[in-house]
Amino acid sequence: MAVATASGDKVVEQAGGLRGELRLPGDKSISHRGLMLALLANGESRIEGASDGADVRSTAAIARALGARVERQAGEAGNVDYVVTATGGAGLRRPSAILDCGNSGTSLRLFAGIVAGHPIEAILDGDASLRQRPMARIIEPLSAMGARVEGARDGRPPLVVAGRRRLEPIDWRTPVPSAQVKSAILLAALAATGTTTVRESVATRDHTERMLRARGVAVRSTTDGAAGGAIVEVDGPATVAAVDERVPGDPSAAAFWLVAGALHADADMVVRRVGVNPTRRAAVDFLSLMGAAIDEQPNGKGAAADVGEPVADLRVRSSDLRAIQLMPADTALAIDEIPILCLAATQARGRSVIRGAGELRHKESDRIAGTVDGLRALGARINVDGDDIVIDGPVALRGAAVDSLGDHRLAMTFAVAGLIAHGHTTIAGADSVSISYPTFFADLERIRS
Ligand code: S3P
Repeated sequence: MAVATASGDKVVEQAGGLRGELRLPGDKSISHRGLMLALLANGESRIEGASDGADVRSTAAIARALGARVERQAGEAGNVDYVVTATGGAGLRRPSAILDCGNSGTSLRLFAGIVAGHPIEAILDGDASLRQRPMARIIEPLSAMGARVEGARDGRPPLVVAGRRRLEPIDWRTPVPSAQVKSAILLAALAATGTTTVRESVATRDHTERMLRARGVAVRSTTDGAAGGAIVEVDGPATVAAVDERVPGDPSAAAFWLVAGALHADADMVVRRVGVNPTRRAAVDFLSLMGAAIDEQPNGKGAAADVGEPVADLRVRSSDLRAIQLMPADTALAIDEIPILCLAATQARGRSVIRGAGELRHKESDRIAGTVDGLRALGARINVDGDDIVIDGPVALRGAAVDSLGDHRLAMTFAVAGLIAHGHTTIAGADSVSISYPTFFADLERIRS
């Protein structure tokens, strides 16, 4: 049983079994982009099955502040359907107040790219966590394109962005693999005169490219070398068409149930309509490599209205896991799933090594410190060596008090740990799950016994 305490903490007791079907929150990355591209389009766009997490709500509020009419309707499985009416990029309004991105790095970085390509000025800010996150990675390319972008202390938010109607195209190699940086540049490139090129050492999630193509923008992607890099090009200026689309379930949310099912000794669950885009499915593949019993059935239901993203139902059953070694490029592909993969590794036979995890220090919290401290408190053997995380397993976990650091992905990782740990696990700051998965604890109650 998960018990709520007054402070927003949660107590999760070891589960007797895990059974049932799960419907996920709409993919967070796709929900953000759906709203943003609807703001840039001329006409009415419908986004079905969007995430109702706080991050996507921040994006919806900002789309409104920039001039779109945004109607929000209750959808299925705790998700929402948005109907957005906008007058195209030319109609972007200068906001009368600071644009509050809350906890959402995707909102801040992608809206900076959008504002950069319009003759308006905006201030983008967020909560204490977002104010700690590095923004030089977008300030530099957007400035090179001709926008004025200024951060506070060493380039952290709040960010003042003064855009222009026409920007200069750039040819940019991203310093770290980041879909947010790539997307900020591609969104600004819609207002550039000529071809903008983004080069990345690892091909990060490609939702922006797919969604721009679905809206009539010619985006070219090619692989770069044998190491899994990518080159993405877009010709500007370009206009974005209004479309209707259906958002797949979030694979980063699915990962929590896949690990829960694989680790628990008596589990059989089906997770419905999971997005299995090749740039997002790394955690499913790594868990399968570790020996997780995951069956995948394509689920194309409603495909006509889907955003050109592959979708599948995933069945997971109790599994006997072996250790895994991830190279830095692997780690980059599963960047949001590393905390839950660390939990999986605590129950796998042998030594797992997750190399090149340094970027995790710059997420909603320092996710290396948070994961290591929490899993260690539960009895795991987990260490950090530079940017590598080393885990020896299997070790039986014991319930303890752990701190999510107010980070949604750490809160859900520790809740899954609580399902298999002996006794009960108390998670501080567990209400942070509302950032990406507001119905997480309700779902957890439904599938457990
Ligand atoms: C996201 C990209 C990733 C990811 C974040 C969402 C996106 O961030 O961690 O949760 O929607 O583009 P980075 O691009 O900073 O790696």
